[in-house]
Amino acid sequence: MTRSPEIRIFDDLECLSWAIATRFEELARLKTIEKKTLSAALSGGSTPKLLYEIMGSSAFSRRVRWPNVHLFQVDERCVPPDHADSNYRMIRHALLESAGLPEGNFHRMGAERPDREQAAKDYAQDMASVLEPAAGAFPRLDVVFLGMGPDGHTASLFPGSAALDEQTAWVVPNFVAKLNAFRLTLTLPVLNAAAHVIFMVTGEDKAATLRAVLEGPQGHFPAQRIEPARGRVSWFLDLAAAQSLSAGLQG
Ligand code: 6PG
Repeated sequence: MTRSPEIRIFDDLECLSWAIATRFEELARLKTIEKKTLSAALSGGSTPKLLYEIMGSSAFSRRVRWPNVHLFQVDERCVPPDHADSNYRMIRHALLESAGLPEGNFHRMGAERPDREQAAKDYAQDMASVLEPAAGAFPRLDVVFLGMGPDGHTASLFPGSAALDEQTAWVVPNFVAKLNAFRLTLTLPVLNAAAHVIFMVTGEDKAATLRAVLEGPQGHFPAQRIEPARGRVSWFLDLAAAQSLSAGLQG
């Protein structure tokens, strides 16, 4: 039985992003105390950009022992790494160029490769080499940052897309009909093996879907399929996105 999610509502994206950065810093410090590394998976899209800029800023980056951190990607568009739509490009500009993360500690998805199936397998192999799951187990990420689209998609798991039914592979190419394009994405079993999933959702265009996802019948939206068996889910929301939630959830 999964734990009820933590729901935190902030005035705006800046407050929300600083709160998540501070949560990341706390998780990294705990791992350092345990003499372990922190593994985190980063989503793309527009909402996390400010968070990554904060994490990469000189004010903040000194607060994290980056050699103890490994960063993975949640998903990627099938475009070259310097393409305007590339999640890697956004993450590089916002965080990697300034944070001080050792080069080998960022694990890029080779989504531009024509052999997408093999690119997905190679990425799973890369995850295995760092996360070292037990034989037959899914890799356990310490924290996963997810967004949500107005259609309730998360990662590149879009409503009605084939990857939603994947139960064994860790990473797959997924054809997204509404975009007429492929994406590489982590699968539900991997996302649900995580210790901590942090959703960041802002903007009134997502308010109705957010209410349906958090308060409506289960199983309708991909974002509702994020239910880590041995982990917790936190929703970091701005006022605009949270406006339709019932009073009880608005805290
Ligand atoms: C991507 C993301 C995707 C994103 C949502 C929300 O590659 O686009 O990983 O799942 O989180 O589409 O996107 P916004 O933050 O831009 O609203």
